[in-house]
Amino acid sequence: MTPDLASVAHAARLLEQGKLVAIPTETVYGLAADADNPEAVANIFSAKGRPSTHPVIVHVARDADLSHWAVDIPPQAAYLIQAFWPGPLTLILKRAPKVSDSVTGGQDSVGLRCPSHPVAQALLKNFRGGQGGIAAPSANRFGRVSPTTAQHVIDEFGEPGIGPVAAVLDGGPCTVGIESTIVDLTRLDTHGPVLLRPGQISAQAIETVLGCALAQPDQAAPRVSGSLDAHYAPQTPLVLIASESVASTTAALQAKQRQVACLRITTDPHTCARDLYAQLRKLDQLGADVILVEQPPSHAEWQGINDRLRRAAFDSTGVLQRLLA
Ligand code: TXA
Ligand code: MG
Repeated sequence: MTPDLASVAHAARLLEQGKLVAIPTETVYGLAADADNPEAVANIFSAKGRPSTHPVIVHVARDADLSHWAVDIPPQAAYLIQAFWPGPLTLILKRAPKVSDSVTGGQDSVGLRCPSHPVAQALLKNFRGGQGGIAAPSANRFGRVSPTTAQHVIDEFGEPGIGPVAAVLDGGPCTVGIESTIVDLTRLDTHGPVLLRPGQISAQAIETVLGCALAQPDQAAPRVSGSLDAHYAPQTPLVLIASESVASTTAALQAKQRQVACLRITTDPHTCARDLYAQLRKLDQLGADVILVEQPPSHAEWQGINDRLRRAAFDSTGVLQRLLA
């Protein structure tokens, strides 16, 4: 989608004034504020209902000066940036001292990402002369499904200018559809590179660039709210179910007069990720008793999708037994 330069410039001015603006990225829409303005960043947390100890990602232009945000940047960061920026990869680096605690959640690290969406790129060029950072978590209420269209953002926060969001920059539907892959490079000496959140850029692609295996998150890993067990969840209970059991389970539920919404996985992982959140939102609106989701394949390229579905299903343990009783 070609950026509309007037709306991009308007959004950049609003951000510079400390307002919140919803912005498109290739992954999901973000709820954005000037990362150098702690009050503006604090407003993101209150709008989302998110605990203030959770850090937010800072979005930067491709040629931004990273030393404004991070110190001791290891060569591994340069390799990954070279391979995957702009794109859906967030790097966790050691924070520079002047980065606001509102951005880092008071941790010693900062998350940086250069999005590839043309509208996000145009905004980053226009905002603070191309040298600013835009703090943006996903533009949804805490724990809920991330938005992948401008309308989803309006469904979450109300019309721009009336609720907490001053403007929604429309960049069309997101093409990736699930949040960025997050790699922690702050503890290379002791833990190596750590995969904090899987996404479209696969662990394997990252391992190929780095020439070593990625570790899984541990207790001491920087906090990632997307890694809470329950997250990305619709209001309707969501249950993952093996392909061969979808039809029989649906029939059994219907025999008990239960309303069943069903999501079949019929496509490749990229198409599935692109459409996943829009489909979950649509199914959530049916007011069914349960959303049955066919368990996707388990191979590597489905890792991001399986991760999100597992978290979306986390609070639904025991739901089927209850509905079938
Ligand atoms: O694709 C994405 O990453 C989207 C778009 C808008 O860029 N953003 C996104 O933001 O998903 P959010 O806040 O919903 O998830 C970002 C994750 C959070 O789980 C947060 O805890 C983690 O990144 N994160 C941010 N800064 C971090 C830091 N310094 N250390 C550890 N984790 C960090
Ligand atoms: Mg989120």
